[in-house]
Amino acid sequence: MNTKNEILLGQFIENRDELHQPDPKAISAILRAVERASERVHSVISRAGLADVLGAAGSENIQGEQVQKLDLFANDQFIESLESCNHIAAILSEENDEIISLNESGEYLFATDPLDGSSNIDVNISVGTIFSVFKRNQKGQPKKEEFHRHGYEQVVAGYVLYGTSTVLIYTCGNGVHAFTLEPSSGKFILTNEAIKTPQKGNIFSINEGNYKTLEKGIQNYIGYCKKLNDKGKRTHTARFMGSLVADFHRNLLKGGIFIYPATADAPKGRLRLLYECNPIAMIAEQAGGLATQGKERLLNIKAKEIHERTPFFTGSKVMMNKALSYLDE
Ligand code: AHG
Ligand code: MN
Ligand code: MN
Repeated sequence: MNTKNEILLGQFIENRDELHQPDPKAISAILRAVERASERVHSVISRAGLADVLGAAGSENIQGEQVQKLDLFANDQFIESLESCNHIAAILSEENDEIISLNESGEYLFATDPLDGSSNIDVNISVGTIFSVFKRNQKGQPKKEEFHRHGYEQVVAGYVLYGTSTVLIYTCGNGVHAFTLEPSSGKFILTNEAIKTPQKGNIFSINEGNYKTLEKGIQNYIGYCKKLNDKGKRTHTARFMGSLVADFHRNLLKGGIFIYPATADAPKGRLRLLYECNPIAMIAEQAGGLATQGKERLLNIKAKEIHERTPFFTGSKVMMNKALSYLDE
């Protein structure tokens, strides 16, 4: 405890070994490394207009997307911080075509979208970091095929939302816990333990610019969300920021559904399985929500490629079941 009876992330994980099995020490070290990197990313983002970090870096990533300066800065922070924790054998990052080997003797693999929502950086809207950890099944020089795993094998999943405040959310398969950054000390303080998402909600989050290219069932579900009740009032409300972390976090706390389906521009979906959808899906399930690829549970998918994309549906149980019922039609 510190003087104000606040529980820091480090204290929480050290005092709650039962949440961090089978290897509390390693999981603690990995989460502390995430904490350090996120704090650095936060401090640059919070003065982005003053630092030389806005705008494009002038290159494209393997997905053909414009890389932003802040994408690269965030990526460097996570690589550097995780290298120093010694437990990570390799990192898979959205920003690197191939995996990056760190410590051959590390027992874990780390997958990350270091800066999610990067189209929002220059306009001062919330962005995030998403991360996922697998335990290795082998020793020696890490290979990218080691990331070809099922989502349910994740041992840690989490995200950091750089919003009006900066919050770090994680699960080790024993509940979802949230910490808020105290900027003056650079420490994350426990603000919400064992988060449960509402079973019902009224927020639907989908980029409707893609409407005409969506499969009929999803169009019909959007139509359902727009229906009025018998008093002529709306039944749902639409919210879509273009930052998955921010869209998901809002829905997690308030109740809602997030959908990024297959579209004409992204026939396999836009979001990446290993470092966007898997960790969000584990958090959603741990909070009592659902996450699917459409009809199939997302965490049952086994990755075939490191930068693989997937359609993604996640949110409150009642809303998810309603949406999925439209896919059956
Ligand atoms: P990233 O910035 O890591 O490339 O991810 C952006 C993602 C995600 O955050 C968001 O939900 C989605 O892209 C928005 O895509 P559209 O602009 O196609 O709606
Ligand atoms: Mn992203
Ligand atoms: Mn990104």
